[in-house]
Amino acid sequence: MPTRQLRFPPDFIFGAATAAYQIEGATSEDGRGESIWDRFSRIPGNIANGDTGDIAADHYHRMKEDVKLMQLLGLKAYRFSISWPRIMPDGKAPVNQKGVDFYKRLVDELLNAGIQPWATLFHWDLPQALHERGGWTSRETAAAFAVYCEFMAAQLGDGVKNWITINEPWVVASHGYKTGVHAPGIKNERTALQVAHGLLLAHGMSMQSIKGRRPDAQVGIALSLSPFEAETNAARDYIAAERKWQEEGQWLLHPLLRGIYPEALFHEYGKNAPEIAEGDMQLISQPMNFLGIQYYFRKVVGDNGFVQRVPGSEYTAMGWEVHPQSLRRLLARLTDNYRHLPPLYITENGAAFEDTVSADGRIDDKRRIAFLRDHLHQAYIAMEQGVDLKGYFAWSLLDNFEWACGYEKRFGLIHVDYETQQRRIKDSGLWYQSMIADGGRFDVEEPADFTPAPLDLEPANPTYALPVEFQVSLIQP
Ligand code: FCB
Repeated sequence: MPTRQLRFPPDFIFGAATAAYQIEGATSEDGRGESIWDRFSRIPGNIANGDTGDIAADHYHRMKEDVKLMQLLGLKAYRFSISWPRIMPDGKAPVNQKGVDFYKRLVDELLNAGIQPWATLFHWDLPQALHERGGWTSRETAAAFAVYCEFMAAQLGDGVKNWITINEPWVVASHGYKTGVHAPGIKNERTALQVAHGLLLAHGMSMQSIKGRRPDAQVGIALSLSPFEAETNAARDYIAAERKWQEEGQWLLHPLLRGIYPEALFHEYGKNAPEIAEGDMQLISQPMNFLGIQYYFRKVVGDNGFVQRVPGSEYTAMGWEVHPQSLRRLLARLTDNYRHLPPLYITENGAAFEDTVSADGRIDDKRRIAFLRDHLHQAYIAMEQGVDLKGYFAWSLLDNFEWACGYEKRFGLIHVDYETQQRRIKDSGLWYQSMIADGGRFDVEEPADFTPAPLDLEPANPTYALPVEFQVSLIQP
């Protein structure tokens, strides 16, 4: 197949992402309070191999070394999360100054290295004390979050211009409160829906408090999104796939971008639907400066629910299908469906594979290189089609504590030996480094007659095309 050279725009942001509980360790040092993940990971059976985040990648002690590695990779931006219980051990004042100082030092190191700091304010480590007072089902937690965010904006806002309020509210609600596989391990649909509303409310309230303190701050939220596809052309499969998209995608996208919950589904939830107070939807739908998209895999829906293995498809160590075309499709659909869509950033995308370190210390992770290249390729085509995409953050900078999977699953561009905490840049990290150094240029294979389709709902695989009536009903008038 002929090759084409892609050239990302000069101001396109290439970065990498991490989260506090997954890398920092030092969970009981320097005055940090307890989080729901500390508590949850101590319960036998919750995490593979009984792992916890107590030490993780020891980033709390190795922060300077890690920033040097980011500089070596040539990252333009680094997305990290702030551990709320490190700043406010009980979720509310008093403040733990040592925690604040850690992030001040991190931001200084980043700026000195020429790397833009992107701070996520909530990446799942809710202070245990707030959980015990009702957690995200309580409006008080949302209010406390807004206070903590304003405080951080005041403390770090000279250096941090880009803020992400909440990481993946849908995953928090579904995994933490419905299926219970994540902290705090609750299994209750009604609670999960109220939590999702509480997280959206917290997002809205913190947008206000951050902007009140720092009017120039760029603020957005990061959503995990999978496009849903019907397994066959049978109408029931389309309906099932579309229904899943409403539950997992539109349930948050509609409130954020249109100020309403998907109406039919809201009624269907009946008694389980969240309680909404006057003014909530206005708060939630305030215009954002950007929207973070986190894409890992598509979901194919058939007669028996999710299709676990699509014949002929490649799967990662997480059991997630590798399907780069769905990233393009997702970006295109969002652009098509939401008129007031702010600029997009891919704030997470990446893959876990079974990496091995060779005798000479090399990690030859060809599949991860292909994964990054193919997803960036599809993102690029989406931009050619008219999607306003401004940056890409690889998940993750370092191998880390992958929640319920513990240390078994490795997503890093940099390998971590958990015995010695030695870091080694994987071949994928070297590929990313040279691509960034080349000014965002790399070669891809494309058919000779390739021209990007105009922006529409056309999926990569025509077997999974939506029937016309669904396309129409999804597009905003
Ligand atoms: C996302 C999380 C992130 C990481 C990746 C693999 O859902 O935001 O922390 O675990 O998945």
